[in-house]
Amino acid sequence: MTKGGPDKAITVKTPEEIQVMYEANQIVAGVLSMLQEEMRPGLTTLKLDTWAEEYCRDHGAEPAFKGYRGYPAALCVSLNEEVVHGIPSKKTRVRDGDIVSVDFGTRYKGFFGDSALTIAVGEISEEVQRLLQVTNESLYKAIAQVQVGNRIADISRAVQNHVEKNGFSVVRQFVGHGIGMNLHEGPEIPNYIQKQASPRILEGMVVAIEPMVNIGTHKVKVLQDRWTVVTADRKLSAHFEHSVAATAAGPVILSERKQNK
Ligand code: MF3
Ligand code: CO
Repeated sequence: MTKGGPDKAITVKTPEEIQVMYEANQIVAGVLSMLQEEMRPGLTTLKLDTWAEEYCRDHGAEPAFKGYRGYPAALCVSLNEEVVHGIPSKKTRVRDGDIVSVDFGTRYKGFFGDSALTIAVGEISEEVQRLLQVTNESLYKAIAQVQVGNRIADISRAVQNHVEKNGFSVVRQFVGHGIGMNLHEGPEIPNYIQKQASPRILEGMVVAIEPMVNIGTHKVKVLQDRWTVVTADRKLSAHFEHSVAATAAGPVILSERKQNK
């Protein structure tokens, strides 16, 4: 979500609510695993959107992004230099060598699920493989910081350190977020350290952590369609996201994909 809007409320969830959020997020995980399995050159990004929405509704959930602030589709599909919020189109086809970021959200029994990953299509260079790997690793290092008593800044620092140590840059204009009965709740989860005081992580908080990592500049632009975010230098970008609950026993990845990862 865009950084720096009005402050949204931070909520904590009961174990029963976290169980419902697990179910909402497992439908997201199923969508993403299906897309990962079906991804191939020649598919239109609109086809991916149609499949995602069908899978979601077949599993009793509603697509959370459709109509959200006027977003026109169920799935966000962002190719190559697109960072996030790419709009599916029947004119855009996936090609061999592309990286395709897919981001999906559900609403299920009153709660939201949200997760994303970047999928490589066919052969990609070693540098681009490293971009995907480092971005995913930065997400898992961040998840390890989801401990009661830590601060949100511990999550941010884990992402930024890992990404910058590897020579890539972290997008600043978009951030992760709390999630629950709303898609976007407080607190904001930046992927870089800020000077401001940072909230404590409380038992029962659920956060969507979503590093967006660029090969070149961290700067981004929003295209004329008012949604698609691209890197300012048009170099490649990757995005991985999980919804994670902070429990007394440590982090629980609600959107974990069981099969192929
Ligand atoms: N995971 C993204 C986010 O949290 C997806 C939102 S797309 C929108 O910002 F269309 F719903 F805005
Ligand atoms: Co999100």
